[in-house]
Amino acid sequence: AVGVQRLMSTKTDGINTITIFGAGLMGAGIAQVSAQAGLKVILTDVTDKALENGLNIINKSVARVGKKQQPDDIEGFTKKVLANITTTTDAEQAVSSTDLVCEAIIESIKVKRDLFAYLDKKAGANTIFASNTSSLGISEIAENCTEERKALFGGLHFFNPVPAMKLVEVVRTDKTSEATYQALFDVTKRMGKVPVACKDTPGFIVNRLLVPYLLEAARMIDRGDATKEDIDIAMKLGAGYPMGPFELLDYIGLDTTQFIADGWVDKAKAGVLPEALVEPTSSIVDLVNKGELGRKSGKGFYDYT
Ligand code: CAA
Ligand code: NAD
Repeated sequence: AVGVQRLMSTKTDGINTITIFGAGLMGAGIAQVSAQAGLKVILTDVTDKALENGLNIINKSVARVGKKQQPDDIEGFTKKVLANITTTTDAEQAVSSTDLVCEAIIESIKVKRDLFAYLDKKAGANTIFASNTSSLGISEIAENCTEERKALFGGLHFFNPVPAMKLVEVVRTDKTSEATYQALFDVTKRMGKVPVACKDTPGFIVNRLLVPYLLEAARMIDRGDATKEDIDIAMKLGAGYPMGPFELLDYIGLDTTQFIADGWVDKAKAGVLPEALVEPTSSIVDLVNKGELGRKSGKGFYDYT
């Protein structure tokens, strides 16, 4: 609670209400850290079931945070955080009165672009728009918005698990205004995060380095170079990574990883990324085709059931 007050007292960004699209792994996490920072949160998704999934993720995680931040009254902490979150499946209502939209839906350029074009017409003239995309261009996502909105448009790239990972990549396009960029930077600090400045380049900083590594790990098992277990052990004990690449792929979600890789094939065709970085890997494709998407579906490279 002390942390919340301290963060609120530095408020300079004009953001009181945040609307989050997508109540999956990322949207739930962003909703949680926003609510912990004292923002009013509107969490939205396409079905009630998806919202329920998001609230389940939040409930489990808030209890973990409460255990550390307010061990004498975990229930009180949880209640206070959850009181800041409302949910709806009505996209128009969700943006009718909000300061910031943060989108964390499926990693598809078409779906994201269409959503923002729709929201542009429904949200207030001063509402800032941000995408949590892993790999898509912010300018491309904003393409069908008005020029006025493009000045209010940036990237807010959080990391999974959001409540534990300190970093946020704040992305500006050549149309993002200085005031928008500053507000995005400042609001991440209020959430207790450390922002870094990124240009609108594929994968920004982290994923430009991390995703090629993960895909090459998957290609290693395609080729039979080593087992997934040995690769995971090797990278943890030999390179000091907290998770091996297959544990991390399962953690991120194999569908999300496949969306990133597919999107990058087009970028390679356009000459923006090297072809070798995005060569498809059958071990990921095969699991996605079976619906084994990683931890979130109970099974991926490993079994979590
Ligand atoms: N909610 C709240 N707190 C959580 C949490 C959650 N879901 N998961 C972990 N934590 C907290 C724990 O409470 C603990 O906090 P303290 O240190 O203050 O006690 C801390 O995080 C460490 O957790 P654990 O001790 O339970 O476990 P761990 O030491 O094994 O760490 C981990 C877990 C933080 C997930 C660690 O394994 C890790 O850093 N893994 C790598 C994660 C990573 O690389 N993420 C980036 C993925 S890529 C991405 O996100 C970008 C993209 O676009 C795809
Ligand atoms: P997820 O599959 O866990 O959740 C996605 C959610 O979006 C689902 O609940 C789905 O119902 C919802 N959704 C789909 N279309 C929607 C729409 N039109 N309106 C509202 N909700 C809609 O995915 P995730 O892992 O949370 O990823 C979300 C975004 O965040 C993606 O762009 C992804 O690339 C990015 N990202 C993911 C990670 C990660 O490690 N998983 C990390 C950083 C960024």
